[in-house]
Amino acid sequence: MTVLRIACLPGDGVGPEVTAAATRVLSSLLDVELEELPFGGRAIIDLGEPLPADTLAACRGADAVLLGAVGLPQFDGAAVRPEQGLIRLRGALDVYANLRPTRGDGIDLLIVRELVGGLYFGASGRREDGSAYDTCDYSPAQIERVARRGFELARERRGLLTSADKANVMETSRLWREVVSGLAGDYADVTLEHMLADTVGLQLVQAPGRFDTIVTENTFGDILSDVAAAVTGGLGLAASASLGDDGPGIFEPVHGSAPDIAGTGAANPAAMLRSVALLLDHGLGEPTLARALERAVDEALTTTPTRDAGGTAGTDAFGDAVLDALAAALTPEEDAWTTNVS
Ligand code: NAD
Ligand code: IPM
Ligand code: MN
Repeated sequence: MTVLRIACLPGDGVGPEVTAAATRVLSSLLDVELEELPFGGRAIIDLGEPLPADTLAACRGADAVLLGAVGLPQFDGAAVRPEQGLIRLRGALDVYANLRPTRGDGIDLLIVRELVGGLYFGASGRREDGSAYDTCDYSPAQIERVARRGFELARERRGLLTSADKANVMETSRLWREVVSGLAGDYADVTLEHMLADTVGLQLVQAPGRFDTIVTENTFGDILSDVAAAVTGGLGLAASASLGDDGPGIFEPVHGSAPDIAGTGAANPAAMLRSVALLLDHGLGEPTLARALERAVDEALTTTPTRDAGGTAGTDAFGDAVLDALAAALTPEEDAWTTNVS
């Protein structure tokens, strides 16, 4: 049997702290080969660039990429920044569909964020007169592939797809709406609605339970997924999977390097562990292990909550609680019985 290869990019700040919890849990579940690689601010300091060529090559050759977070305050406003490495990696692996699920009291929604186009990838720069520009640019094909992913995911969920745009203002949004509407006939079992992105933000706060699957462009998806995270327990819980058509996906928490708590051992690894569950599901084809890990994280959030989740546990204690819950859940019945009577 071939051993699964995971490229592991811990990154900066709390990135390595939550990644350590993730690798412990992942190695307890599967026989995987984890290759740790320089990335982000640390890689700029050591090697002069945020995405070194060897790191990108290892990611391309892996079955999946597990990523912590990037960003160090010392690079704010610098010409070479950690975040450039993340954007280049997403573009290089062409992971155009970023799945950001959230669950909470009466809430179960999935944001499908377009990840390799729009403002993040359009022409940008400074002009001689001192002004600056970023360009939002989308082709019909770029919109179609992520929209199809949204329809397919909605079909497997509760069958409602909300497409968020600013068609009242932006030309790219009018194209977005046209392309998405044109696909609806292929998915007769899915109800499609269009909603302006600012209204989606409002509704996410006022009535989050009304949403099922939301598909949207890169920048709106970035902002709306933080809003969705905030109404369901915060960034410490929000996971993501970035998927292309083939090739490895990137699995990473929605949160950043959290410089305000880095080094204190307080980071909640739940977002990262839920990203590992997405990796098991979408990256490695192990849905049973994925469900077991999701349940173990839910259990640890009840028994051993971290500070952001209303408790006092640190990163390592939370990781221990997840490992314990997993061990209890995955112990075969016979063994449990033998243990009980011996
Ligand atoms: P952030 O997500 O790092 O932190 C926002 C707030 O959430 C902070 O108060 C932080 O303490 C809290 N938080 C985040 N993760 C947490 C966790 N696991 N447990 C408990 N609390 C947590 O956003 P920011 O402070 O605006 O950005 C910091 C840096 O991270 C910037 O350089 C930014 O560019 C970068 N960033 C990177 C990614 C990524 O790598 N995917 C994502 C977002 C931001
Ligand atoms: C995210 C982050 C990134 C983004 C930054 C760090 C480039 O905020 O993954 O949500 O804007 O996509
Ligand atoms: Mn973000």
